[in-house]
Amino acid sequence: MNSDFPGRFRQALGSGVMLVDAPGARDTVLTFARSVVAGLRDQPKRLHCRFLYDAEGSRLFEAITQQPEYYPTRTEAAILAKHAEDIRALTGPRTLVELGSGYSVKTEHLLNAFADDDGALLYVPVDVSDTALRAASRTISENFADVQFTGIKGTYGSALPILRQLSPQLVVFLGSTIGNFNQAEMTAFWRNVAGHLPTGDFFLLGVDLVKDVGVLEAAYNDAAGITARFTKNYLARMNRELGSEIDLDWVEHVATWNSESERIEISLRFTAGQRIHVRPLSEEIDVEAGEQILIEISRKFRLPQLSEELATHGFEVAQTFTDEKEWFALLLLQRMDDAILPRAPLPPPGL
Ligand code: AVJ
Repeated sequence: MNSDFPGRFRQALGSGVMLVDAPGARDTVLTFARSVVAGLRDQPKRLHCRFLYDAEGSRLFEAITQQPEYYPTRTEAAILAKHAEDIRALTGPRTLVELGSGYSVKTEHLLNAFADDDGALLYVPVDVSDTALRAASRTISENFADVQFTGIKGTYGSALPILRQLSPQLVVFLGSTIGNFNQAEMTAFWRNVAGHLPTGDFFLLGVDLVKDVGVLEAAYNDAAGITARFTKNYLARMNRELGSEIDLDWVEHVATWNSESERIEISLRFTAGQRIHVRPLSEEIDVEAGEQILIEISRKFRLPQLSEELATHGFEVAQTFTDEKEWFALLLLQRMDDAILPRAPLPPPGL
């Protein structure tokens, strides 16, 4: 059923289909259950942040982006609004591919800039939430009648095999979502993208920058408590989909700046011991009072180090756009010719 994904995608493009499942996009409950069990059996316990974004999580994240303390979305949107035309001038006409598109709100600036004189443009958003993708397709077809919307439901990795057929393209990865990756995941991600993105194609990367601790911690501890609800929705989702029977009243959201790794660390702290069930796998895991489970990291970046790292993966910074306070940056990257790169070692199998 999921075989020949690039072929199915090509067909969808031709027939105007709006949503295509990437391989693995269908078996989410078992995938979720396995990920939860693996994470909770680890020491220290952890949970993979991808599963924060079910329908309720995607909705709560949109609400986070509107909180006064959460500066990244509005800062990035302002940079995009100001520079979308400059970006289009640098890249020329291109198909837009967006990784982790969510509701595609900020993308509208780019759609405006990249649609041709007749309004035509191919836009390929990739997201794990089909609720968000369907909502995005509705608003975009209302506001941009001639934009062809072909969404992919799946993880970034599963969607990358279609990039070859979409050149010339601009791949967009906004919101500093890349900050969710630890070092190993970041390396694997860039190798994977570099392996699929043809030389000369562009990549627009949004990154949140290192700044005052007070500003950073406030952004992840909003006064209205929306971020806490977003984090705790992970456990609510476990209750809904895995029959976990977790009492949320005995769990707290904790978000603190780790100055050594330069990242915000978001955890769930259990204030009482609880037994967590994972019914689809008939597993139970005990969590002790005081135990803290890391659920999400949000790395903040420094531009010189980041550009250096990107160069080792075959990406050159064509232009950097930032706001007055230099809180957030958009990097326009171009895939270099591998011939001019020092040979990178082959990725280990499975990455
Ligand atoms: C969507 C990953 C960019 O790290 O700022 C926001 C997620 N989590 N508040 C971020 C998030 C809690 C967000 N990203």
